[in-house]
This record gives sequence, structure tokens and C-alpha cells, in this order.
Amino acid sequence: MTVRPATPADSAAVWRLLNGFVTSYRPDRAVFEDVTFPQVLKSAAEGGAEFLVAERDSATVGYVLAVRMPTLFAGGTVLELLELTVDAGLRGGGIGSALIRAVQARAEAAGDVEVTVPTRRAGEFYRRLGFDETATYFKWSRS
Ligand SMILES: CC(C)(COP(=O)(O)OP(=O)(O)OC[C@H]1O[C@@H](n2cnc3c(N)ncnc32)[C@H](O)[C@@H]1OP(=O)(O)O)[C@@H](O)C(=O)NCCC(=O)NCCS
Repeated sequence: MTVRPATPADSAAVWRLLNGFVTSYRPDRAVFEDVTFPQVLKSAAEGGAEFLVAERDSATVGYVLAVRMPTLFAGGTVLELLELTVDAGLRGGGIGSALIRAVQARAEAAGDVEVTVPTRRAGEFYRRLGFDETATYFKWSRS
């Protein structure tokens, strides 16, 4: 299994993985293809995001997306993990951990002050990877 930056060729696999991941939103295929997927690839190419995939036996079996934000309070950039998912049939085999370790390595290389992640479902998973519980997360959604 390897972890590498996502490319346009990962589009179909990431679309499939995304649909197994989201709970609060229903992704639209045309918006994904024409807007969000290219936008995220561009941001990653410019250093504003980390968008990595896990590849096993030539198949894309997981992805992680984190966005890099400039801050004043931390005295540098902060990386926030927003999406992480692994093929349902392959969970528990270390793929998710490998994706997070790759993000942590890239955060170190980029000089990010911290990596944060809002999560309802995977707190224990992140604890094992060195994350500590911190602030409560609030959300405002456009109606
Ligand atoms: C969370 C997720 C990415 C983990 O990927 P994975 O490949 O299964 O993770 P790993 O195999 O590296 O797991 C490492 C350890 O964490 C545990 N773990 C995995 N997911 C967990 C979860 N949601 N909650 C608590 N522990 C979890 C595993 O059991 C494993 O423990 P072990 O070493 O004792 O066997 C995967 O379960 C997934 O895609 N879940 C659905 C989407 C999701 O919840 N994403 C996170 C949103 S922030």
C-alpha cells in the first residue's frame, strides 16, 4: 500500500469513497467533477491543502483531505483535516493510520503549527495517532 498525492485520475474512486463517507450532505456528481474535485486538486498543488490517496493493488482505497490556513494566533499555518475515509471492506488494516501519518509528515515538512480535526465518529482513532481532545466545534450552515 502506498500513500501519494491525488491526481485527476483518482476522480472516480474518490467519488465512490466520498459517497460512503458523507452523512450531512448529498454530493452532486456534476459539482464534484466540474467544481470541487478540480478546486481541491488546484489548492493542493498550490500548497493550500493536502489531498492524499492510499493505493493498494493499483486501486485507490482511501483518501484524506486537509486544508492549510494562515493564522495570527498560532504564529503560522494550521492544517485542518476535513475528510478521511477508507474503503468499507478494508477498514481496520492500517490504511487510515497511514494516511494520517502521511498528513502529519507533510505538516511537519510545511512547518504547520498544528493539525486539527473535527470528528464525531473517530475520536479514539485520532487519540492513538497522538491527537488530544480540545475545543468544541460549532457550525453555522447556509439555509
Ligand atoms: C476512520 C477510518 C478512516 C479509519 O481507517 P482504518 O483504515 O480503518 O484505520 P486503521 O486500520 O489504521 O485503524 C487504527 C486503529 O484505530 C481503530 N479505529 C478505526 N476506526 C475507528 C473509529 N471510527 N473509532 C475508534 N477506533 C477506530 C482501529 O480499530 C484500529 O485499532 P487496532 O490497531 O486496535 O486494530 C475508517 O474507519 C473510515 O473510513 N471510517 C468511516 C469514515 C470516518 O469516520 N472518517 C473519519 C471522519 S473524521
